[in-house]
This record gives sequence, C-alpha cells and structure tokens, in this order.
Amino acid sequence: MTRKKLIAGNWKMHGSLQQNEIFFKDLLSMSENLSKKYNDFYNHLELSLFVPSLYLFQAQNFLANSAISFGTQNVSNQAENGAFTGEISAKMLKDFAAKYTIIGHSERRQLLGETDEFIAEKFFILQQNDIIPILCIGETQKEYEESRGIAVILQQLNAIFANPKFDKNNANFVIAYEPIWAIGSGLAATPEQVQTTHLAIRKRLQELNADLAEKVKILYGGSVKPENSKQLLNLPNVDGALIGGASLKANSFLAIAESIF
Ligand code: PGA
Repeated sequence: MTRKKLIAGNWKMHGSLQQNEIFFKDLLSMSENLSKKYNDFYNHLELSLFVPSLYLFQAQNFLANSAISFGTQNVSNQAENGAFTGEISAKMLKDFAAKYTIIGHSERRQLLGETDEFIAEKFFILQQNDIIPILCIGETQKEYEESRGIAVILQQLNAIFANPKFDKNNANFVIAYEPIWAIGSGLAATPEQVQTTHLAIRKRLQELNADLAEKVKILYGGSVKPENSKQLLNLPNVDGALIGGASLKANSFLAIAESIF
C-alpha cells in the first residue's frame, strides 16, 4: 500500500486577514498550475494548512471548494462545550470543517507545560469528533546527544497507545516526528537519522496492528525547506512533512510539495 504524502503547513502564531488572503489566493492559483503540470498530482499528495484557530473560518472560505484541507494547531482537552474560558472545542473546529488538528507540538509542551496525559485527552476527543489528530513527538538536543531520542519518542507514543481509550483498529491519526533541536534552527535532522527514527516508529505501530502500521502516516518536521525536502520526503517511512517557517509563503510551501515528484 502506498501512503499518500501529507504536506502540512504549521503557521504557528503568524498571519493576518490581509496576509492570509494573499497566501490563499497564491496557494490556489499556484497549486492549480502544479495539478496541471502533474496530472495525477492529488493522487500523490495532500496539501493541508494549520492556521491559528481564529483564521479557521477564513481558511474554510478560501479552501472549502478546493482539494486543499485545513485545520488548527490546538484544541481543548474538554469533550463538551462549557465553562472553559479561552478554550476552543473539537465540536467548534468541526463546525468549520477542520479535517486535522495538531496536538503535542513541542512549543506547547515546553512553553505551556502540556504533558503526555493532557495531550492524550485531546487525541481521543479529536478522534471522537472525526477530526484526525496529528500527534507531534520529538526529543531535545540533550536527549539526542545522550542517544535517548528513540526511547523518548516511544514513551511519548505510549501515553496514547497504553491508554484504555486507544483503539488499535482506528488508523485515524498521524504522527509527526519533530526533533526539538531541528525546529526553527535551520538545521534539519540528517536523512539517516530521520530514517532510523521513522523505522522505529513504524515497528512500534506494527507491534500494535499490522494494518494500522500500513495506514498511519509518519511525517517529519524540523527545518524542512525547498533545499532539503527532496532528500527527506523521498525516504522510506517518511509520509510527508510538517513545515513551519517555509509554509508561510505559498511558493516555498509548494516547492516542498513539488519535491516529491
Ligand atoms: P520549522 O517548524 O519548519 O520552522 O522548523 C516546524 C514545526 O515546528 O512544525
């Protein structure tokens, strides 16, 4: 089975109504050109944008009639709407047709103290609402230097897989391996390191269920840019990329997408 590549742009806390409009218009026209250039373009990949929640409505307005999906970078850990000031529920994201939501990004783990348990609550709430979680995992520089990277990410995965709510027959989730030292540093992990880690993740999925392991996409994130994407995206077990900085301009985002061809 070949897994379609997922090319996902994580805008983080960037954008404005005006900038986004320019982006979406560029994205729509440039992606249309690409889909003419490669006539089976969307059989090979899916483009997806992760906007600040406030701009989800705008993303929906521009992208709902296109092949490009969209979602947000966070969701509340509360299943039902209620007295949770400042939070945004999965039901609200669903209202605006979010297909995916990023959870467990290292910036939220490190800056906002999100724990594996808290992230697991979000994971299951998203699945219950038919929104596909993109679960970010990754080791720190220190853990990497101490050769503990794989042990750390397996532990982060176990917070989901060992949870009684985990259904090993439900392949509706995506894993994004993002070494923390590679995020925003300009220095991506080497192809060898990405390959080793993705293989370890795939093996862990195989232990759970062979069918799950066939279906679940494993993305790489951390300083992916047009200059290194061809090398990274064509490795075995790399099913796409989670792109921060280089997703803020339609041309660099799409140059990364084009590198899979
Ligand atoms: P970066 O961010 O591409 O700017 O390194 C990736 C991410 O944090 O998802």
